Amino acid sequence: MNFKNQTIWITGASSGIGEALAYAFSSKGARLILSARRTNELERVKSHCAYPEQVHILALDLAEYHDLNQKVKLALQQVDQIDILINNGGISQRALVQDLELPVLDRIMQVNFFGAAALTQALLPHFLERKAGHFVCISSLMGKFSSPLRSGYCASKHALHGFYDALRAEVHDHQIAVSLICPGFIKTKVSLNALLGDGHKQNTMDPSSAKGMPPEVCAQKILKAIQKKKPEVYIGGKEVMGVYLKRFFPSLLRRMMRKAQVI
Ligand SMILES: NC(=O)c1ccc[n+]([C@@H]2O[C@H](COP(=O)([O-])OP(=O)(O)OC[C@H]3O[C@@H](n4cnc5c(N)ncnc54)[C@H](OP(=O)(O)O)[C@@H]3O)[C@@H](O)[C@H]2O)c1
Repeated sequence: MNFKNQTIWITGASSGIGEALAYAFSSKGARLILSARRTNELERVKSHCAYPEQVHILALDLAEYHDLNQKVKLALQQVDQIDILINNGGISQRALVQDLELPVLDRIMQVNFFGAAALTQALLPHFLERKAGHFVCISSLMGKFSSPLRSGYCASKHALHGFYDALRAEVHDHQIAVSLICPGFIKTKVSLNALLGDGHKQNTMDPSSAKGMPPEVCAQKILKAIQKKKPEVYIGGKEVMGVYLKRFFPSLLRRMMRKAQVI
């Protein structure tokens, strides 16, 4: 895989899948822009990259999505061009609909959907001008089917598919690629950081996350998908079957989801 001298902007790079992607791309000689809210964690990730001198840090909050235009301007002051944007930053949810306070639902949509969409819109003129570029969105299997306790999370991830599928059709003739990556259970801090109905973090590791795929393995699969400019990929264990059950046996999946062990 050849990403040498490509400039790749990764959001959510301070932890989990984004951190693993930073190490994987850096080891291939890529230039990186790492974004998230916690600058100290981004500095830590930078220091562990294969070529830290090729890594820029740009702190941002995806929830403040009206300011992301400004962040794109700052990014393009740091580097000559951007080749790939990986919209990875996100938060999950562990709450029944009946317990989910509206501001928490709002926050999940802001970070997961509006943040990614706004950053993509703001970078699009740069890609159009260059007639090149690749938008990568880290969605989830929960962007393809839904499970209990994650209503807002599933809604935000399903929304990403609507947005990026439309974008893919619009930019095809401009040589701009769009990839939707749908991981299943990956062993990161996603369940610790997941929001409860009142907006507090769950702060515990779900058994399914603990048994999930290591983020480094997930990152390698994502690199392959990006290299091949795959429109959509599913990454995980047997939970991936949910995509095919929804397509071919939807009533069976509905029955399974009533009883599913989803944490
Ligand atoms: N792990 C899984 O099982 C799994 C499965 C499917 C999809 N995904 C998706 O993969 C992506 C990465 O998640 P992860 O598993 O690596 O979880 P994680 O370890 O909790 O990492 C989440 C990342 O998102 C960033 N982030 C959260 N809120 C943000 C905000 N308001 N503004 C900017 N950045 C923000 C965090 O950085 P700061 O806190 O420093 O801002 C962190 O770098 C998410 O989109 C998630 O939905 C994960």
